Amino acid sequence: MAGEKVTQAIFLIWSLLLTTSLGRQTNFSSFPPDFEFGTATSSYQIEGAWNVDGKGWSMWDHLVRTAPESIYDNTTGDIAANSYYLYKRDVEILKELGVNNYRFSISWPRILPYGRPDYVNPYGVAYYNALIDELLANDIKPFVTIYHWELPQNLNELGGWLNEDIADWFADYARVLFENFGDRVKHWLTINEPDVHCYFGYESGSHAPRIISPGVGYYECGRNILLANAKAYHVYDEEFRASQGGEIGMVISMEWPIPKTDSADDHEAVQDFIAFNIGQYMDPIFSENGNYPKRLIDRVAAASTKQGLNTSRLRPFTSEQIEYIKGTADFLGLNHYTSKLVYRNESLEGRFSVPSKHDDVYIDELRHPSWPVDTGFVHEYAPGFYSLLIYLKNTYNNPKIYVTENGCSTSTGLNDTFRVQYYRNYLSALLDALAEGVNVKGYFAWSLMDNFEWSFGYTLRFGIYEIDMNDPERKRVPKMSALVLKEIIRSRVIDYNYDVDPYAPSGAFVRTASIFTIILLATLVIILRIY
Ligand code: BGC
Repeated sequence: MAGEKVTQAIFLIWSLLLTTSLGRQTNFSSFPPDFEFGTATSSYQIEGAWNVDGKGWSMWDHLVRTAPESIYDNTTGDIAANSYYLYKRDVEILKELGVNNYRFSISWPRILPYGRPDYVNPYGVAYYNALIDELLANDIKPFVTIYHWELPQNLNELGGWLNEDIADWFADYARVLFENFGDRVKHWLTINEPDVHCYFGYESGSHAPRIISPGVGYYECGRNILLANAKAYHVYDEEFRASQGGEIGMVISMEWPIPKTDSADDHEAVQDFIAFNIGQYMDPIFSENGNYPKRLIDRVAAASTKQGLNTSRLRPFTSEQIEYIKGTADFLGLNHYTSKLVYRNESLEGRFSVPSKHDDVYIDELRHPSWPVDTGFVHEYAPGFYSLLIYLKNTYNNPKIYVTENGCSTSTGLNDTFRVQYYRNYLSALLDALAEGVNVKGYFAWSLMDNFEWSFGYTLRFGIYEIDMNDPERKRVPKMSALVLKEIIRSRVIDYNYDVDPYAPSGAFVRTASIFTIILLATLVIILRIY
């Protein structure tokens, strides 16, 4: 009799367990079947092979040789993850992850060693042909960034992004890529992150080409990037779209601002943060009227006047240029990492050098102490991602978006629980935004593997695969986040209880006991004791 009761009790508990887990499944919202998942990298950060097979020098090759102190650990991208030689292994790990898309960039000086199309390096073309073919043979679509900061050094010496001719140089280079790879590449990303590139390259000078031109170089660079993007877009549109049938967009990086207090000044600070960091690049391409945001134009003009200048340091576009730039993206490539608290009050008096972007926008930024961080500058605050997506939908008539980068850095080791939590929370925020009708078509995790993190060298690790940079073989080993992402991609849902042990052979699956499971097991023990 007692035995029968125990059997009944076990039956009851297992049915409860089953219903609980099924119930939880139906509560998850899931990614639509046509939602694209991928991971992202960039050429200088992973390829290595910096001076082989006819590659020319980029401004980063030049920087790490002439000013090694600009890199925190004095390292270079000379070998990096060695993907030039290990690209087949890269495709293997993409396959392992189960992604159908890979965002990588093409090194301009590997294709055009002197920057101009009068000499095309056949070895460079062969390398990217091999990579693209390997991806396609494995059902992985290439999303190709045309420019991820690797400007050929001789074009840099001609003024680089401060020379308006760069729109022609860039469009000529892009044409070479469309001609050589456009039969197989259907998703092009022109330029990666104008704001980050122009700020660190031409305002603060902490990235190549290390030009410190506060409040001048920064805006000139951004303006030329918009013109170059537009020119490459028109080349694709007029010469290639009909025969190749692909799409082309630009990658813009955005942080989301949150007012530090409820003061009117802090709310104004939010609007100015948006105008300078988001609107400066979004409005000319995606807004109905084109052109820069009025706030940006007015603030820089007012500061310039105050500084005794006859014209604004933000050079205006002509009406022809405004028309030429408007609409020059089939989609937005959105990079998002973190949020900022912003404020403006009397404590800013005398804080910024004059002229400078900081003085123009006149706000200070910080992080909320409750936003978790592991290493580096990415503080986790997923609600900021949700707000940003909703803002983009409402402000720019719900543009088509691919999230082309999202991720965080963690210290070394395969147990990257911080990154696991980060991805779960940001992907949940993305699901919430999809439920609100935001038009996001795909998501790329940054980054497929640990790589050269610009001025931080190898001290910041963004990879979901670990690479020991002292290992001559540069083995790629999945971290916990890779295994968890793999399950999200497979199941299309985010299960906060799914865990894996990255150190176990082939990443053993461990379902972390949920609170329900614990309660039910405890009930079982109690029942058994009663009988
Ligand atoms: C860049 C990447 C970089 C990542 C993490 C983005 O700004 O596009 O090249 O590695 O952020 O800092």
